[in-house]
Amino acid sequence: MTEYALETRGLGLRIGAAVILDDVSLTARRGELVAVIGPNGAGKTSLFNLITGVHRPTGGSVLLGGRDVTAMAVHRRGRLGLGRTFQTSSVFPALPVLENARLAAKAHLGGVLNVLKPAGSDARATAVARDCLERVGLAARADTAAGALSHGEKRKLELALVLAQDPSVILLDEPMAGMSAEDVPELTELIGSLRGTGGERTVLLIEHHMNVVLGLADRVAVMHHGTLLALDTPEKVMADATVQSAYLGEPL
Ligand SMILES: Nc1ncnc2c1ncn2[C@@H]1O[C@H](COP(=O)(O)OP(=O)(O)O)[C@@H](O)[C@H]1O
Ligand SMILES: [Mg+2]
Repeated sequence: MTEYALETRGLGLRIGAAVILDDVSLTARRGELVAVIGPNGAGKTSLFNLITGVHRPTGGSVLLGGRDVTAMAVHRRGRLGLGRTFQTSSVFPALPVLENARLAAKAHLGGVLNVLKPAGSDARATAVARDCLERVGLAARADTAAGALSHGEKRKLELALVLAQDPSVILLDEPMAGMSAEDVPELTELIGSLRGTGGERTVLLIEHHMNVVLGLADRVAVMHHGTLLALDTPEKVMADATVQSAYLGEPL
């Protein structure tokens, strides 16, 4: 088995004359939480889009568990264990929270356990869905229509839907966006717990809250103008003069 759950090698993305990403080589070990930081427009979301397969790079490669997935479609990467947050638009607001989680679990189980009979897969999907809701603290809201959840609860549901895919690598793009300050500690703990009890999952987290990043991350990747400026422990990254000068006048 390869050392890295996820690796990008010299990843590049050009759109017309614009260089969106240039020579980004990033690694994440199994069970590692890597925070991706950088000012707006640095290329963080574009990097995630290349890793998940939403966009194809114009250079370099993406490896998942040592396997080159650069040319692979989004759903096939999902089957190989790459989990991404569902956009809020993929949550069915009129359906109960449990049903939303069940659909996510069924989509995943349908992909990996298609030998199961529908009845068996239904019971299994319900069990997975309940477990995921429990893990994000939404069990008591199982029968509530997803559209009636508070903003914070919707973010938790999105995390439950990712967990329902039982991914080995999870990509989270600003999961705290729009959260009120008092919800941040709980969501921080929840994100840390996504790694699983045995620390078996790898998490890549784009996040602006530096207290969250410093508290959770094993390593921090600093993006700036489409390049990877630094990839190191939070302490070393914070002390890095290049990182500091890149951020001069720009809040981290
Ligand atoms: N589809 C696109 N076409 C042209 N430019 C894009 C496209 N998507 C992103 N960009 C540009 O790429 C740069 C990086 O954007 P993005 O990855 O969203 O940064 P971040 O997530 O770090 O804020 C920005 O300058 C943005 O304007
Ligand atoms: Mg972004």
